[in-house]
Amino acid sequence: MPYFGAFVLPERDRYGLPVPIVISMSTPTLSSIDRLSHHEGEEVTIQGWLYNKRSSKGLHFLVMRDGTGLSQCVVSEEAVSEQAWNAANEATQESSISLTGTVRKDEKQVGGYEVSVTDLTLIHKAEEYPITPKEHGVDFLMNHRHLWLRSQRQWAILRIRNSVIMSIHNFFQERGFLQMDAPILTGTAVEGTSTLFEMEYFGKSAYLTQSGQLHGEAMAMAFGKIYTFGPTFRAEKSKTRRHLTEFWMIEPEMAFYDLDMTMQLAEELLGRIVGDALKNCQAELEILGRDQEPLKRSLSGYPRVSYDKAVEILKSEKTAHMVAEKIAAAEKEAEDIKNESEVGKREYGQAKKWEKRKIDARELEIQRRLTEIEEELRNLPAWLASAKAFEWGTDFGGSDETLITWHFDRPIIVHRFPHEFKAFYMKRDPEDDRVALGMDVLAPEGYGEIVGGGERATDLAFLESQVEKHGLPAEAFTWYFDLRRYGSVTHSGFGLGLERTVTWICGIHHLRETIPFARTLDRLYP
Ligand code: 4AD
Ligand code: MG
Repeated sequence: MPYFGAFVLPERDRYGLPVPIVISMSTPTLSSIDRLSHHEGEEVTIQGWLYNKRSSKGLHFLVMRDGTGLSQCVVSEEAVSEQAWNAANEATQESSISLTGTVRKDEKQVGGYEVSVTDLTLIHKAEEYPITPKEHGVDFLMNHRHLWLRSQRQWAILRIRNSVIMSIHNFFQERGFLQMDAPILTGTAVEGTSTLFEMEYFGKSAYLTQSGQLHGEAMAMAFGKIYTFGPTFRAEKSKTRRHLTEFWMIEPEMAFYDLDMTMQLAEELLGRIVGDALKNCQAELEILGRDQEPLKRSLSGYPRVSYDKAVEILKSEKTAHMVAEKIAAAEKEAEDIKNESEVGKREYGQAKKWEKRKIDARELEIQRRLTEIEEELRNLPAWLASAKAFEWGTDFGGSDETLITWHFDRPIIVHRFPHEFKAFYMKRDPEDDRVALGMDVLAPEGYGEIVGGGERATDLAFLESQVEKHGLPAEAFTWYFDLRRYGSVTHSGFGLGLERTVTWICGIHHLRETIPFARTLDRLYP
């Protein structure tokens, strides 16, 4: 306990909660698994679910899961009542259990602590659990998403999501931004009309919002610096690993900010998110096997790259060279893990039960990785061909972004895009009328765009002409034009895609695992 002058400050754990001071030892304290370290030598009660069970004569090793972590709880026939012993006997995977026992430090065990059980109650005996350590396809797992959420990998990913959310709120709140909510039902398109979800609204058409930006601009003119944090919708008809139909977007909007200030803000926000994840999510990153070096490099110093320069990079000889290297590396990795899988199969027969479980888990990982590599080997030549054929004036596709990011060791900010493919609200570069003052942050390691934004058009006549040029109904934008009628100022903002950011931080392949219940072209269940 830190001593501070005349006061003794209570110790705080990683959540900032005071560590309990135990006054009476007579009734066991209720403890979550992540707080067992504060109860060494004491008797505690844990409530949770049975994650895994191994048994030998007179002993059950129960791995308990309570949402905060895993802990091995040892039930010895000699140490508990007959009733408790029978309950432990009967408990199946994912049965709910309340147990009491003494906490012992044991570095070898998951979580670093073990519980010697003195009493146990089976709250509900689970039916045969459908998700077992054996291999399941992604479709099966997504169909059982409501249960898949209980597995360790999902635990890690979604806790990182939580950390990212907290970092974002803290970052903006500390800087005097107000969190403001934009409407979800809107009468207008923001980001192009091709991805609008249309619905009937009392005899009229309404749309699910694609972005809170336009309303964000109105709120910035009222409050200075604001950010929205809400669900956004895109009727994406493509099945890619970067697209959801419902995703969460964080959209700061700032009066009196120009493009440079906005790029700086995006860099600092991402630096904060990454820094907090490295500080607070070590266990989670380790479960995911995340290589942390690229994250450590991503705290600051993001290169600014103009669109022109990015095109040059994309079409360079170096890109072709990198693709060839990636193909060779992927082929080698596939061969290595196939060999590893063969060894596993050979050793399986003589393996002990716990070794079998380990081999099964690794095999699952190997098969997952092999599918990814196969996809990579199919994609790489096509990506290179499309990069070579890329023409100035068109937008980067996902694969172009991937190739560009390989040239850098941290996120980059691409800016000043040809205005043809950018949204109607973007300001033109006063120094080059061909380009708009937009910017995208591309995450490294092939992840690509996670942030899009820029400086907004401030001139009423220009904005009106853009709305017309984009074929949008001017009447619906009357209120938006008003922002240029009453004290129009330089202002900017961006949208950060939460799921894309979490996907990158976790270092995982597909963004569907970064949201509890993903919505995609072909998924509305569960
Ligand atoms: O680049 P976008 O379309 O920009 C806007 O919507 C601006 N109005 C934001 C602003 O300036 N306030 O989308 C912003 C980010 C993308 O960079 C990406 O991270 C994410 O939103 N995003 C998606 N994430 C998942 N699935 C989709 N279908 C996404 N579409 C965009
Ligand atoms: Mg974009």
